[in-house]
Amino acid sequence: MRVLSVVGARPQFVKAALLSAELARRGVDEVLVHTGQHYDREMSDVFFEQLEIPAPKYHLGVGGGGHGAQTGEMMKRLEPIVQDEKPDWLLVYGDTNSTLAGALVAAKLHVPVAHVEAGLRSFNRSMPEEINRIVADHVGDLLLVPNVQAQQQLAQEGVTRGVCVVGDLMVDLAMRAAAGIPERPALLDRLGVRPRQYAVATIHRASNTDDLHAFARIIEGLRSAGMPVVFPVHPRTREAARAVHAGEGDNLILIDPLPYGDMMSLVGRAYTLFTDSGGLQKEAFVLKVPCVTLREETEWVETLEDGWNVLAGSDPRKIAAAAKRLTPVRQGQPYGDGHAARNIVDALETAGAKRRSAA
Ligand code: UD1
Repeated sequence: MRVLSVVGARPQFVKAALLSAELARRGVDEVLVHTGQHYDREMSDVFFEQLEIPAPKYHLGVGGGGHGAQTGEMMKRLEPIVQDEKPDWLLVYGDTNSTLAGALVAAKLHVPVAHVEAGLRSFNRSMPEEINRIVADHVGDLLLVPNVQAQQQLAQEGVTRGVCVVGDLMVDLAMRAAAGIPERPALLDRLGVRPRQYAVATIHRASNTDDLHAFARIIEGLRSAGMPVVFPVHPRTREAARAVHAGEGDNLILIDPLPYGDMMSLVGRAYTLFTDSGGLQKEAFVLKVPCVTLREETEWVETLEDGWNVLAGSDPRKIAAAAKRLTPVRQGQPYGDGHAARNIVDALETAGAKRRSAA
């Protein structure tokens, strides 16, 4: 079996880490394609190195640009590769423009599409990610969902064939990382903060970075958090951070984006996390760190149960109040059995065998 996997953005490298290893272990021929959507060393190369992901066979070199130009250019460069490689599956992860480009190219070439992290919805179509997810799910042949809720969501949209509940790769990797976090990671001393006496913030969602008013309100909330806030700044956020003088004479500590292990250590020993990222909401949940989500809605509704995650949008008062709440006690286990990679390869093999016997 040959699987052509398309990755391009930071969260996809994290998800690919466990799956690429499992594909190799099971003797599946994986052709990895990097679209280039994330290209800074600290957004891409360090993840491949630290998570021991095999080097991509193809690098499309498409970074930046508007949504149409970025997605279109990826499709143009990917199409001949898919035609040459003739994979049994084209596999895409999550909800980025790289996901959309991969899914559309394969669907048009009649190559079966497997979508990892299918069935998630924010119900907010002004998010580019929501459009990407819906399209990938509706052109997909094998929809690898993290849990039964995502399966039910697809059923509501009339998608019932090829749906398989597999768990969550990112959660599985975070569980492994959690076990190795020292009580007092050296990084904290370098930053001058003490375990459980600081917060972490990440902001990169277009609705927060492109609207300077919303961004300034979030920063106002973080400034009232009552503790130091370590803020690894995503490339798309740099300009907005400069415009509002974040980190100048306040409690914010601005740093470059961190490699995976350091980020897990930093979040794992924090008092709370402020984020508009999807993945980090789940990672904080696994690390048992309360999360304040800087959006009006979340795809990961399970994290809201028992109070591990609170939606604060860009309201400074809600942000400051949510930061000070106590750590919840109860926690369910909504993201699978810890074997998402194995379950995904099983599903690819079973569905592949079915297709061959039907042909
Ligand atoms: C993308 C995904 C989002 C995901 C996020 C993870 C889409 C629509 N969005 O958003 O779902 O949660 O990645 O981080 O696909 N840039 C750099 N260096 C880099 C990467 C990006 O300077 O390494 C710049 C780009 O040139 C662009 C901006 O940052 O100007 C935004 O990059 P973009 O690829 O649009 O996506 P993200 O905002 O990172």
